Amino acid sequence: MKNIVITALSIAAISLTSCSTTQKTASVQSPQTLKEGFKNHFYVGAAINLDAIHNNDKKAVAIIENQFNSIVAENCMKSMFLQPKEGEFFFDDADQFVAFGQKNKMFIIGHCLVWHSQAPDWFFTDKEGKNVSAEVLKQRMKKHITTVVSRYKGKIHGWDVVNEAIMEDGSYRKSKFYEILGEEFIPLAFQYAHEADPNAELYYNDYNEWHKGKVETVVKLIADLKSRGIRIDGMGLQTHVGLDYPTIEEYEKAIIAYTNAGVKVSSTELDISALPSPHKISSNIADTQAYEKELNPYTSGLSETATTKWEKRYMDFFSLFLKHKDKVKRVTQWGVTDIDSWKNDFPIKGRTDYPLLFDRKYQTKPIVKKLIQLAEEKKN
Ligand code: XIL
Repeated sequence: MKNIVITALSIAAISLTSCSTTQKTASVQSPQTLKEGFKNHFYVGAAINLDAIHNNDKKAVAIIENQFNSIVAENCMKSMFLQPKEGEFFFDDADQFVAFGQKNKMFIIGHCLVWHSQAPDWFFTDKEGKNVSAEVLKQRMKKHITTVVSRYKGKIHGWDVVNEAIMEDGSYRKSKFYEILGEEFIPLAFQYAHEADPNAELYYNDYNEWHKGKVETVVKLIADLKSRGIRIDGMGLQTHVGLDYPTIEEYEKAIIAYTNAGVKVSSTELDISALPSPHKISSNIADTQAYEKELNPYTSGLSETATTKWEKRYMDFFSLFLKHKDKVKRVTQWGVTDIDSWKNDFPIKGRTDYPLLFDRKYQTKPIVKKLIQLAEEKKN
């Protein structure tokens, strides 16, 4: 009798052990979320808006917390919001954003310190509305960067120090920063940021980052900063791309060129538009309605053909990022769900686009599973 009981107990114990082993193996083998799937490769992040930051959009917050391990603020850390008037800083939203990232132990990105767009007018002008001197602009840049970066010292892990300063043809953008300070505004911005938090990573960030001319000038810029002993850690590839542009080969060349210059790369604002680029549609469509339909074809849902093409683009881009995972630090989506994506209003207002990995009903799109599977295959 005793023996029978012992045997029965041992069988139960064995089956319990094997059951928990199977379960364990199953959960180890098939991660369900992006951050689990990509944890051995690179950070996966999202840009988050005020509704998420203030926990008003709880469904978006749930997605961010479950799926991502890095965040960046979509708007609230741009200079027009952080310092709307000279010397009057507004940190409430940014503080909440950082607290959210800390609570979730995320890799937190500050976006962005120096950008010609979404900067307040006062930054560049005197009381009469004339451009300030180089000396005054330097002081203003230093004060802005030092105040912001030191407030989040040790909390924000990486900064987009300068955003969008180089054009596709390789020339410098004729922004107010450039007009007043010349090319030197870039090294100065990196230097001020580094002085304020010597441990933070510092990035240059730009769009159409695969254009040959732009690649050449940015590579020179990185080399110049490095030769002067100024810290730069990464090149931020915004990756606002479409179904037909750029080619994966062009993109790969850019990744390799930036890496050869001695920095890591990140895809910092990834979204893949499913809509036709307005430049590609012939402007001779006389019928306005037909023209509008052609520009905005999927108001009640993406067609099957477009979905297949769009999914393939996502797979191709992630295959490329995985192929170069030794060079890639992070892949961040510019937004969480399609409903909030800026692409619905850019470059044309009021279209219905489908650029992100979560749909208008906060559902995970089928592509997410495929991307996780891809990451699993490239695990070793
Ligand atoms: C966009 C935001 O998504 C919009 O909400 C805002 O109206 C304009 O800016 N490149 C960048 C981002 O570096 O800061 C921009 O974000 C998108 C393009």
